[in-house]
Formats: sequence, C-alpha cells, structure tokens
Amino acid sequence: MQIHETAFIISTYRSYHEDISKDTYAKLWNNARTEALIPGILNNISKEESILHSIRNRFFYERMKSFFEKNNGGTLINFGAGFSMYQFLLDDTVSTIEIDKKDIIDYKKQKVHLWTKEGKLPKRNIHYTSLDFNLDSEKEMIISLKKLIAEKPTFILLEGVLFFLNRKITNKLFRVFKQLQNPGDIVGSVSYLPEIEKTEVYKRLLNYFDSNNDTNDTFSHQTIPNSYYNQVEGYTLKEQADEYNLSKMYAPEFDIKNKDQILNEHLYLLERN
Ligand SMILES: C[S@@+](CC[C@H](N)C(=O)[O-])C[C@H]1O[C@@H](n2cnc3c(N)ncnc32)[C@H](O)[C@@H]1O
Repeated sequence: MQIHETAFIISTYRSYHEDISKDTYAKLWNNARTEALIPGILNNISKEESILHSIRNRFFYERMKSFFEKNNGGTLINFGAGFSMYQFLLDDTVSTIEIDKKDIIDYKKQKVHLWTKEGKLPKRNIHYTSLDFNLDSEKEMIISLKKLIAEKPTFILLEGVLFFLNRKITNKLFRVFKQLQNPGDIVGSVSYLPEIEKTEVYKRLLNYFDSNNDTNDTFSHQTIPNSYYNQVEGYTLKEQADEYNLSKMYAPEFDIKNKDQILNEHLYLLERN
C-alpha cells in the first residue's frame, strides 16, 4: 500500500455514496485496481469506512460552500489534496491551489485538463503545486504558495493527511498556514484522537497498513488530542465535529451505533485571529 493509493481509495468511497458525499465527480477516478482493494479493507477493518469518508466530504463541502458564498469567492488551498474534487462542486468564483506529492499532482493535472476539455468537468481556476511536507522547508512552502494566492479570503484544507505525518511536521504546517492567512480565514483539519489507539478497529487499520506495505513507504501513525487545536498559535477553534455524530444527520439510514467500533475521525475548523 502506497500513500497515494489511499487517495484513490477515498475518492472511490465518495463515489459509492454520492447522496451523502455530494461529490458527483469522484467516480471519474474509479479504476479496477482500487476497486479490487476495497472489499478487503471493508471486510478486514470496518465496513463503515466508505460511509464515514463520504460524511467527512459532506461536512467540509458544506462548510466551504457557506464560507465562499459569504465572501463571494476566495481561494481553497488544499494540502494533500489527493483526488478530492471540491473545486468543481464549489462556485466558479472560487480559485483552488492543489498541493500534493509530485506523482499525484502530475497525474491529477493531466486528467483534470483532459476531462475539462472533454466537457466532463466544468472550467475552474486551479493552480497545482507539488510539495513534500516532510522535505520542503517552511520558507520554501510559504514562498511558493504566497504567489499563487490571487483571491482572498482563503480556506485551507488538511483532510486525511495528518495520520501520515509526525507532530514536528504538523507544527511546521500550522506555522505555514499562519503566514499565508489573514484574520477571518479558516483551516479545516482532520485527525484521530489518541483514545482510538486502544480500539480493535484502529489496531486492524495499522495491521492492514503494515501487512500491505509492499513499498516500504514510511509514514507516521499520528493521533492528536483536542487540546492541540486549542493551542495552535494564531488560531481559535471555531467548530469541532466527529463522524459518528455527523452520521446521525447525514447518514441516519446506516444507523451506526457504536463509535468505538468505527474509525471515528474528528473534524476541526480553526479561524485565523
Ligand atoms: C488519504 S489521502 C487524502 C487525500 C484528500 N485530502 C482526500 O481527503 O481525499 C492523503 C494524501 O496526502 C498526501 N500526502 C501524504 N504525505 C504527504 C507529504 N509528506 N507531502 C505532501 N503530500 C502528502 C498523499 O499523497 C495523499 O494524496
């Protein structure tokens, strides 16, 4: 399992529950190799994974939609964007900066260009930039991103990424965000609480990654307490949600009963002071 494969898996999950995720473009990324992996994940880790990722998409989609409507546009800066497709669901007054590792960015840019030409995607103003959060310096990231921000305000999204990074790199990213944003701008972030580490479902997740690590693609298994988000310099925690509670609103028909038996991610919105 390589980290970029997780991006394909998540977009496929979103395509399985379009009514929940609201992502009508995710299915463009579907491919046989990824679809062959999914039954093994749902059976061996948790069958709710596709629903939970669709709920996560829905939450950020709604929050970004209202943020950009209120501001008549702006820029979405998507850190570790993978194959997420928010830019096509949001109004065309929104510009997007897509950031990921080079292989993902090159592939996504080429496909989006093709699908836009073919009329499968609406035209949007999108900049692509490849960065490696582990390797690139704070200064390099700020310089390369600042010049791409044409429209203000900004909504920074860090979705499905922190699990793969360590705390030092996480702190670095939040310092970069602080340099890029102005008062009133928003960061959306996702992470697991440390409490999840003792659950069987989380142990199955780690075991799955370990036993399918065919490339020695190294990554951390980061969890983050709520208190971290109350102490981020330059930011105030505005909203916090978790997928279990959101399931009652967005996916009541799935009747998810026990939050200790699912990979319940926590979602945060922070506002720049
Ligand atoms: C699980 S995917 C999530 C993708 C997307 N945010 C979503 O929610 O659909 C994790 C993404 O983070 C990116 N990523 C992980 N580590 C990274 C790093 N050190 N630098 C840049 N991107 C990284 C991966 O390439 C991948 O696209």
